[in-house]
Order: sequence, then structure tokens, then C-alpha cells
Amino acid sequence: MERREFLHVTSVASMALGLASLSSCLNPDKNQRILILGGTNYLGPAIVDRALAMGHEITLFNRGITNPDLYPNLEKLRGNRTIEEENLSALEGDRIWDIVIDTWTADPRMISRSAELLKNRVKKYIFVSSIAVYKDKTVVGITETSPLHEVTEFIPGMSYYQSKVLCEAAVEAAFPKNHVIVRPPGIFGKRDESWSLVYWLWRIRAGGPVLAPGDGTDFVQWIDVRDVAHFILHALETNQNGIYNTIGPMKEPMVFKEFLERINAHFGNRANLVWVDNEFIAEHKLRPIVDIPIWEPKSRRAGRHTMSSEKAIQAGMSFTPVEQTFDSALKWYDNVKSSSTDPGIDKSRPFNGITRARELELLEAWKAKNRDI
Ligand SMILES: NC(=O)c1ccc[n+]([C@@H]2O[C@H](COP(=O)([O-])OP(=O)(O)OC[C@H]3O[C@@H](n4cnc5c(N)ncnc54)[C@H](OP(=O)(O)O)[C@@H]3O)[C@@H](O)[C@H]2O)c1
Repeated sequence: MERREFLHVTSVASMALGLASLSSCLNPDKNQRILILGGTNYLGPAIVDRALAMGHEITLFNRGITNPDLYPNLEKLRGNRTIEEENLSALEGDRIWDIVIDTWTADPRMISRSAELLKNRVKKYIFVSSIAVYKDKTVVGITETSPLHEVTEFIPGMSYYQSKVLCEAAVEAAFPKNHVIVRPPGIFGKRDESWSLVYWLWRIRAGGPVLAPGDGTDFVQWIDVRDVAHFILHALETNQNGIYNTIGPMKEPMVFKEFLERINAHFGNRANLVWVDNEFIAEHKLRPIVDIPIWEPKSRRAGRHTMSSEKAIQAGMSFTPVEQTFDSALKWYDNVKSSSTDPGIDKSRPFNGITRARELELLEAWKAKNRDI
């Protein structure tokens, strides 16, 4: 799909949404009491940081296991949402909050339980879903009204994308008119330990030849963790309702060539990007996303990296400059690991690419193939 076509697909939705978002922005509602279910792993801290910066009052509810020392000055309610060990007593009673923000990953029964419990004591339920809910990722320009996976009932162990569909339904059932559901793609930045963006940053910063996939025209989408958090707070403060794709990294679509070249430019153009074609990638059994992080050829799922976030943009979503995302993601990696550790050797992470040794072998094979032609 050409860039022009992509813009055309999204422009109609943009016009329709303009008026609605303008009216909601006229009624900012600041300094709210926010209950965050979770809040201490990855996206949660970005939400907490933004909410504190905006002057809101925060209560955290979690088990106290993940990063228990974060936010020593915030009110912390302890409990457990896992059905088998459930303890929601800290949420019972008649305490009132303005908003609840829930980052729960999977089991929709836990959404129903907390939503039911809080239904008459909060004005709005904000839930973090995912673009995983969309059924057909071969379709270009997926919007919030595109079809979702068809799922009717929860079965323990069901896939992430199926349970997210049911989680959204649980939120809608308990808060039919006053919910916000955000659907982010891959989230990158501070505290991201998937190392998939980091793979590219680390390799390119290190310099030398770097294997780059395809012809550079495949699209790439992600979102900075701060942008999701900022949009959630913005939606809350401007009293938005509904479902929003929160997809970046910028308003315009980005292709892989721009993505890798911007990383290279940011680190002083020390890397030599060697673009290898899809035939070579298939021949050497390099798996998109897994062996080549983030990347997927458009021939596989053209819609995966061309989704529309026009609705969120019209509602006021903004984007962190990509270079700032690069810096915060790599700084976190350098801090957790060390700047000399190759992310490609960490096999506990599923999407962090190949080792440097394997990459150099492949580049040799690519050179030999081209010599032979
Ligand atoms: N990462 C991505 O690329 C990506 C992409 C799209 C969507 N998403 C979605 O974004 C969300 C972000 O999750 P996050 O981990 O960053 O959120 P988070 O709010 O930062 O962390 C998860 C929180 O849940 C709490 N928790 C875990 N088990 C619990 C239990 N049994 N009872 C009560 N609290 C419990 C944890 O604290 P304790 O352990 O102390 O209880 C922690 O505070 C997820 O819904 C994910 O599906 C992520």
C-alpha cells in the first residue's frame, strides 16, 4: 500500500470525528481520584507518573509483588485478583473514586468482578486492551470498528487475543456508556523488557554491517509507553468515552527504511544497513518478529502495521519523537543489562532476534549469493 492510499483510508474517519473531539475537549476535568488496578510493572508506572504530574490523586491496588518499592508515598491497597486466590476486600465498602484504570492482561472474569464491585462508586472504567483483538490483520487501515475475533465464553488457558476480546466485553457490560478502552500495538520505551526495539538500537549503535529485512518498504507501527499513558490521562481529563487505537510511532505511516535509517542517524551513522530480500530471509528460515524483531513483510499481514489511530489523534493523542523513544528504551536496557550485552543472546526473550555471530554468517552468505549472480 502506498503512503497516499493509507492517508486516504484514514482521512474520512478523521473528518467525522473532529467535531466530537472538539466538544469533549471543552470540558476539562482535572484533579481526579484515580484507582489504578495494577500500576507497578511497565505501562502502569508510565500512567502513574503522568497522573501525578497532572496533579491527580492516586490509589494503587495490587498484590505488592511487582516492584513493591515503587511509589513509597502513594496509597497502596493490597489484594489478589486471581480467581483461585481472590481477595478484593480492600475494594469493598463505600469508598468513592472518580476513575478506575485497569491494565489487566487476560482473564475477563477478573474484570467483571472488579467492575461489578466498583460500578456504583466510580464514574468511568478505563481498560488497556490490545490490537491483538482484531480478527483479520491482512486488511489495511484497521479502525476501531473493524471485526474482532469471535469469542463467546472464557475457557481457562485461551489465547491472549481471545481473552482480551472478552475483557473488553466485560468492561462494556459493566460500564456501557462510560468506559474508555485503548488498543495499543507493541509498546516500547522505559521498562520494556521484550528487547525487540532494543535489538535494532543496540545493533545499530554498535556499528558495522547490520542485516536489514526486505526492501525497506514494509510498514512499522508501535507506540511509546508514555504516549499510551498520556492518552489515557488526556481521555480521562477531557471526558472521552469509547474505544481508541493508540498506535504510533507518529501520525504518518513509517516504513522500515525510515525506521532503521533514523536509528542509524541518531547514533552517528556508524552502521552499514545491508538490505536482504524476502527470498533470502525465507531460504534461511528467519522468522519475522521472532528472528527479525518487529518486522513483518506486507505480503504476510498487510494490516498488522497499517492500523489507523485517527480517532485517537482527533481526540488529542500526541506522539513522542521517535529518537526520544530510542533513548529511553536503550537507557533502560543498558541499566538492566549492560551496554556490552548483545540482546540477541538473551533467549529468555521470545522476540529479540538473532545473535551477532549468526547475523555475520548470514551477511557472508548474502555476499556470496550476490557474488554468484
Ligand atoms: N507490552 C506490550 O507491548 C503491550 C502491547 C499491547 C497491550 N499491552 C497491554 O498493556 C497492559 C500493560 O500491562 P503492565 O504489566 O505494563 O501493567 P502494570 O499495571 O504496569 O503492571 C501489572 C500490575 O498488575 C499487578 N498484578 C499482577 N497480578 C495481580 C493479581 N493477581 N492481583 C492483583 N494485581 C496483580 C502487578 O502487581 P503485583 O504483581 O504486585 O500484584 C502490577 O502492578 C497489559 O494489559 C497488556 O496486555 C501490552
